[in-house]
Amino acid sequence: MKIFNVGIIGTGGIANGAHFPALEKQQDVNIMAICDINGDVLKAAGERWNVKNQFEDYNKLLEMPEIDAVHICTPNDVHMDPTISALKAGKHVICEKPIGRNPAEGKAMCDAAEKSGKKFMVAQCWRWNQDVVALKRFIDAGELGDIFMARVWAMRRRGIPGWGVFINKEKQGGGPLIDIGVHILDFTMYLLGNPKPIAASGKTYTNIGKEPGHVGNLGQWDWENYTVEDYAAGFVRLDNGASLVIESSFAANIKEDKFTTTFIGDKGGAQTGPLEIYGEKHGTLTDTTPSGLKQPNIYESEIRAFYDAIRDDTEVPVTGEQALNVIKIIDGIYRSSDAGKEVAID
Ligand SMILES: NC(=O)c1ccc[n+]([C@@H]2O[C@H](COP(=O)([O-])OP(=O)(O)OC[C@H]3O[C@@H](n4cnc5c(N)ncnc54)[C@H](O)[C@@H]3O)[C@@H](O)[C@H]2O)c1
Repeated sequence: MKIFNVGIIGTGGIANGAHFPALEKQQDVNIMAICDINGDVLKAAGERWNVKNQFEDYNKLLEMPEIDAVHICTPNDVHMDPTISALKAGKHVICEKPIGRNPAEGKAMCDAAEKSGKKFMVAQCWRWNQDVVALKRFIDAGELGDIFMARVWAMRRRGIPGWGVFINKEKQGGGPLIDIGVHILDFTMYLLGNPKPIAASGKTYTNIGKEPGHVGNLGQWDWENYTVEDYAAGFVRLDNGASLVIESSFAANIKEDKFTTTFIGDKGGAQTGPLEIYGEKHGTLTDTTPSGLKQPNIYESEIRAFYDAIRDDTEVPVTGEQALNVIKIIDGIYRSSDAGKEVAID
């Protein structure tokens, strides 16, 4: 059995919480080298996961010819450069979400992947959520008919992260829309059959994020340096005639956090989190609630799928092009908010 030698760039939160533990469970991978610009974080990860090859410069890691695949677990502003460098160095790449901060970065990454012939996957872990997996089967079987509308919520009541760079527009590319909205938008677009976005109208607001003294359920953030939106709403036209509305917030005055999409089709509807499917049979309205769904560890499933695609030489389940479409939606909503009118998406 071929053993894949792996490098991890960025050994912070998501690497320690998801990538290292998921990789440790795989029989056919060996974590060969790690990199972080923060020497203390790097050393701690090296000790915790027993990895001897440690670099503060990712180019050094990429120079190791033994490495087959690289995990990019750095902040959003450090997705494009290491991904392109890794692909150029002949490595397969799995990059954390979002693909990049904007469509230009995402496009450059997709182009590099195509040129390299290597696998390039974006780590959109919600694809392995039990509701998404089950609902895909119902949609494929035609239970919803033609889906013409998706209503997406990625809403926290008081969930502004008190760590990392999530409140920094320059490093993140945006606020809740690009951080948590990207997860729900990704699986929504997947379940819609990956249509192309053609126009967006949106509006963003920053209220609570820039004020002191609020409740911080995810720690206390630096309100004085808060440069992203804390609420975004958008309406998006898709090229298959369907449309999508989204609301995404780190801090909204609502009852409780809500991460869900409602799909409305001409034959039926559905809502995720928890999954319900709405229909009409024999003159009766029906609500179907699946029972016995089993939630796998989404990170293990995602990482297994990446290595299966390399091993079997098949398409990765979350392609760069799909992730690029999602970042085009996010960018369209931001551009529309700035412009004060609907904008076209190329
Ligand atoms: N899939 C998910 O559920 C999920 C959850 C959290 C974060 N993420 C994504 O993971 C990425 C990282 O987020 P995080 O929470 O782990 O952040 P983090 O700040 O905890 O970790 C990022 C690490 O990258 C390092 N780094 C920064 N620049 C670097 C460089 N040039 N070279 C090497 N290392 C560098 C930092 O020192 C830090 O240790 C983000 O893109 C975020 O969107 C995904």
